[in-house]
Amino acid sequence: MLDFNFKSAINHINEGVVTWSSPSNIALIKYWGKKESQIPENPSISFTLNDCKTTTTLKYSKKEDVNHFSFEIYLDGEQKDDFKPKIETFFKRIEHYVPFLKEYHFTIETSNTFPHSSGIASSASGMSALALCVMSIEKALSETSSSEDEMSQSYFNKKASFLARLGSGSACRSIEGDLIVWGEHKEIKGSSDAYGIVYPYEVHDHFKNYQDTILLVDKGEKQVSSTVGHNLMHNHPFAKRRFEQAHEHMSKLIAILKTGDLDAFIEIVESEALTLHAMMMTSLPYFILMKPNTLEIINAIWAYRNRTKSKICFTLDAGANVHVLYPENEKDAVMEFINNELVVYCQNRHYISDQIGFGANQIQ
Ligand code: DP6
Repeated sequence: MLDFNFKSAINHINEGVVTWSSPSNIALIKYWGKKESQIPENPSISFTLNDCKTTTTLKYSKKEDVNHFSFEIYLDGEQKDDFKPKIETFFKRIEHYVPFLKEYHFTIETSNTFPHSSGIASSASGMSALALCVMSIEKALSETSSSEDEMSQSYFNKKASFLARLGSGSACRSIEGDLIVWGEHKEIKGSSDAYGIVYPYEVHDHFKNYQDTILLVDKGEKQVSSTVGHNLMHNHPFAKRRFEQAHEHMSKLIAILKTGDLDAFIEIVESEALTLHAMMMTSLPYFILMKPNTLEIINAIWAYRNRTKSKICFTLDAGANVHVLYPENEKDAVMEFINNELVVYCQNRHYISDQIGFGANQIQ
């Protein structure tokens, strides 16, 4: 395991500012269930979304009192005190690895490219953007002009992913690359429970620029948070089998990604989505996050696939919205189908068109 402890602050910096933009991601094999310290119960893999991003500017200035964290947070220019507990927890969890946090006062300014009341989770893009900002400060503090002290890009990304994981598990899959694995799997070299890695094997051209149209079925806050849902996997009657299944799905997916077998891909992706929701329905207490229109959309997708032999499929995250996934060469046909038959099931007919790709970048 890599050593992510902070080496030493060589430079004295009184104040500074850093900005990162970081993408959201959608899991094909789902992370649902975790151990202590944000360690996943099973490996997961996700597509990175090119356009759904969070941009975060972190301003930092040295303060006298080093006994507590001090920060304020703004979303689209508006102070957001209700985000504070999550950030405080994040800072507490990462403090050991970035001990300079208490030496600064932070102003966190954040905005999303997607509407914040869209029901799209911003924790992956938000926590990864913040982790990248923190890493830029670590780099500024610890690097000198001597190449000996230079922080490698690979270390920077791995530690950023490691820190992001401690903020929100899925955030560790939003640091680099367009297909990311998080969690140890015996057939994936370099895979780790501690951080995400770029999927290291061959990926067929069928998956290049894969499209994701997110149908916004319900833009409200979800009634059950992911954190609560993960916890319900403890003592869950089907947990053990589910975690094994995720490993099996990953083994199958390695071959599918190589050969480009889209029918087999669809089977795994849809099964993972429904299994995720099945776990919610069979936990105690049980709950349902899908809405009637989620099912209408799923049925319409299946009917369209039967009718046209399209390779369209769906996946779900922990909510009612549906991610419609399809190859780039079907873009026009599927968009026509969505506009004719699926938008009626979306709240205010809203959807977000995105595609797989990597859009993280440092802005300042
Ligand atoms: C259903 O990463 O939001 O989207 O680690 O508690 O912050 P925490 O959970 P989170 O869980 C995401 C679960 C999921 C599946 C996935 O992205 O793999």
